[in-house]
Amino acid sequence: METITRLADLRETVSRLRETGPVALVPTMGALHEGHLTLVRTARERAASVVVSIFVNPTQFGPNEDLDAYPRQLAEDQRALEAEGVALLWAPPVEEVYPDGFATSISVSGVSEGFCGASRPGHFDGVATVVAKLFNQVRPDIAFFGEKDWQQLAVIRRMARDLDFTLPHPDSIIGVPIVRERDGLAMSSRNAYLSAEQRRNAAALPSAMRAAIAAIEAGDAVGRALDSLQAELIAGGFASVDYAQLADAATLEPLDSLSDRPARLLVAARIGSTRLIDNMPVGPA
Ligand code: PAJ
Repeated sequence: METITRLADLRETVSRLRETGPVALVPTMGALHEGHLTLVRTARERAASVVVSIFVNPTQFGPNEDLDAYPRQLAEDQRALEAEGVALLWAPPVEEVYPDGFATSISVSGVSEGFCGASRPGHFDGVATVVAKLFNQVRPDIAFFGEKDWQQLAVIRRMARDLDFTLPHPDSIIGVPIVRERDGLAMSSRNAYLSAEQRRNAAALPSAMRAAIAAIEAGDAVGRALDSLQAELIAGGFASVDYAQLADAATLEPLDSLSDRPARLLVAARIGSTRLIDNMPVGPA
């Protein structure tokens, strides 16, 4: 596996890879875990070569967020990616991505606005902008994102469609199901911030979500099921719930009842100062 940190070197190497078949891109911020590595394995099944990017993108962190504290472990990540048969690691420094005078931002309205967009102003502009740049830098044939960040996936699909990104096919942005720990907690680089007690309590998130979904699918009122979910999280040691909402799976429009359109339960909650997110399908798949 080659590691490249300069744009000028990237283009040439990717062109060489493209000669052997389709190139997949897996964008990450590093501190890789089994969730990320599952994206890589899925990408390997679908493309001749896999490019992984590691870039802790400053523009998607708010002023009071964890940019400086975000875990960075490049050497360990390189070893993991090498073992997965990744062809190329794109790991640019900040000034390579945001040179002096950088002044452009991509803002996706609608789908960016509720949920994490409401509690993290500017976050999805930062995500859309950096992913657009990564698409232009690497020019992949196909790209892989986790369903863990359901709203992010919806924002990226909307952005790629709206801006005519040259990924050759509308199905070229692939969502990969959430990889979970044994107790159900969705894997996340931020789980490393949790104390042992917080980590034990964090499993209440997926279990309370499953209980709410069972209640909704059995015909309980959505509002009541969501109230119980919030109460269960607070009783289980969570400090606060940013949102717990049923939504249209594609547009993220809030729903107060099930219909024949695919629905998703999305939750963000804080345990101590760590913010955890999760989402699950509701109703007929
Ligand atoms: P990061 O949080 O590092 O995640 C990189 C990719 O891994 C994302 O597509 C995310 O949804 C996926 N992922 C994380 N945990 C997962 C899990 N438990 N199961 C399945 N997939 C999982 O998301 C970002 O980075 C950034 O916003 C990025 C898209 C790289 C833009 O900066």
